[in-house]
Order: sequence, then structure tokens, then C-alpha cells
Amino acid sequence: MSPIQLTRTLPADATDAALRADVLHGLTRHPKTLPPKWFYDARGSELFEEITRLPEYYPTRAEREILVARASGIAAASRAQTLVELGSGSSEKTRHLLDALPALHSYVPVDVSESALRGAAETLLAERPDLSIHALIADFTDGLTLPDTPGPRLVAFLGGTIGNLLPDERAVFLKSVRSLLSPGDALLLGTDLVKDEETLVAAYDDAAGVTAAFNKNVLTVVDRELGADFDPADFDHVALWDPKREWIEMRLRARRALTVKIPELDLVVPFTAGEELRTEISAKFRKEGIRAELATAGLTLTQWWTDSADRFAVSLATAV
Ligand code: SAH
Ligand code: AVI
Repeated sequence: MSPIQLTRTLPADATDAALRADVLHGLTRHPKTLPPKWFYDARGSELFEEITRLPEYYPTRAEREILVARASGIAAASRAQTLVELGSGSSEKTRHLLDALPALHSYVPVDVSESALRGAAETLLAERPDLSIHALIADFTDGLTLPDTPGPRLVAFLGGTIGNLLPDERAVFLKSVRSLLSPGDALLLGTDLVKDEETLVAAYDDAAGVTAAFNKNVLTVVDRELGADFDPADFDHVALWDPKREWIEMRLRARRALTVKIPELDLVVPFTAGEELRTEISAKFRKEGIRAELATAGLTLTQWWTDSADRFAVSLATAV
């Protein structure tokens, strides 16, 4: 029997209903928005992996540097038998943790992208045939229930993906993570840090145009899933730094006045020339802000590690 178990915690039609609700809500308000989780069909997950290899996109390299340097400290502090990873994607950096955890019994990657989960589980299993992998196709913002695997648990949320949640969503999310932790469990959180605008904007507007393709991929997802007639060529990729809210905003700007038909929703969406649709925020953090947000959720920051250039941080937190 294969030690990979793949569980879909939401039926496929619930995903469909969630997409419909998000598109209906997001495209009938002003300004228009779409949540970033819809980037990640198979093509979107591939494009994200390409982004992680771009010269301008430093977060993946910076976080990997921290994980390589600190894996044994993280392992000693957590003594985890189960590693849960939220938004695990390719699980590429996770191997440094898996290698360092001597007592590890189970790995529980959680992602909305089935293709990313399957690819990651197959690669990991080929290298670690004894590891029990219980992959969950699930939305980590939507009442996650974890499989009954041995504790202590280390819940990892890497890549800076927490920054893709709005502040009020982050607060709700962190409380839900807190509720998953038993005494002795811990949260390992990756966060990108506030830095100069030029570095930040370049990371989200690369010269090769991969991030632009990733951004426009959400339109292709809506076209395929809801029969819409978005033409990605009608939109420009926009990446802006908001210094007040300390987040990058990705938008799609209509190149001309146009209307988009979405037959599955019985909806016609007008865009004025230059109108922008917000597709993602990517918040950047400071240590005291992270400490405070964790504390509000009932979590204590116990370790804070940064890369040698202070671009990215990995925190360890335990339940209060
Ligand atoms: N952790 C990896 C991947 C980051 S990309 C890394 O650090 O490189 C973000 C991942 O989170 C994608 O694989 C995407 O499919 C997943 N994701 C985004 N929103 C999600 C949600 N609401 N629930 C579950 N997974 C989500
Ligand atoms: C997954 N997440 C942390 C990425 C980020 O940097 O906010 C997604 C991304 N968007 C554009 N490039 C990468």
C-alpha cells in the first residue's frame, strides 16, 4: 500500500461554489478584487515555482538560507513527530526540516493545489520511503481539521504566504492555528520583512515577466472554470508598494474600456479604461508587529531568525 494518503476535505463542488462566490462578490464591488488563492491551478503552481528561481525574487532563497542554518535548532525545540505544512506547494524547502527531524513520523502537507500536492508527495516519497505522507487538499482559512497523527506537532507556514492574507483575515487565521495546537506543539512562521521599495517592487515585477503571467493566470482560471471571456492581453500587470500599509499590491489594469461576460454567473462585468482589479496583497512585516499579532492569537514568539541580509524572518511560536 502506498504510504501517501490524499484527502480532499472539501468536495470539489464546494471549491466550485467558493470560486463562484468570490468572483461574484469581487467583481461586482468597487474597487474590484479577487482572492489570491485562485492563482494556483496546475499552471499557476508551476509559474510560482518559476518565480522562486527568478533573480529578483529573494524570499525563497532567504528563507531557505534560514532553514538550512536553523533546521537543527528548530528540530531540537519542537521534537516534532508530525510536521503539518500549510500552503506547502512543492515542499521544496521543507526537505531541510524533514531531514533534521529525527523522530518524524508523519508529514501533513495542506494546499488548495492538488497538482502541487501530488508532485511534492511523489518526489518526497521517492527520497524518503518510510515517511508517512497525509496530504490534505484544503483551504487553510476554512476550518482545518488535522488527521490523527502522533504529537508533538510542528505547524509550518512558510514562504511568507501569511502576508497574502488581509490583516483581519490574518487575525482569524492565527486564532484558528492556535486552536490546532496542543501543549508542546509549535508554529513555524515565515515572513518577508519591510525593506526598500526598489527591491520589493522588482521582486513582484520581474524583467522576464513571469510574475505578470502568474498574475494574469487568475483570469485564465475564471475563463476555464466559469466560462468567462477575459482576454489576459487586455490587462497590464501592476505591482505597487503601499508604504502606509507596508504591503505590495498586485493588480491587473484594463488597457481599454471593455466588458467581460461570465455566463456561469449570468454576469457582465464592465471595466473602464485603466480600471484596476486587485489580485493580491503581500504584506511585509517587522518583528514587533509579528510578536503582537501572535500574542493577540494566544501565541508566544519564542525564536526569531533572519537571513544574513535581514530580508526575511522565520519565527517559532508556542501556545500561551
Ligand atoms: N510554501 C511554499 C509555497 C508558497 S506558494 C513556498 O514557500 O515556496 C503559496 C501556496 O499556498 C501555493 O501552493 C497555494 O496553492 C497555497 N495556498 C494559497 N492559498 C491557500 C489557501 N487558502 N488554502 C490552502 N492553500 C493555499
Ligand atoms: C505565496 N506568496 C508568499 C507569494 C508572495 O510573495 O506574496 C506569491 C507571489 N506573488 C507574486 N509573486 C509571488
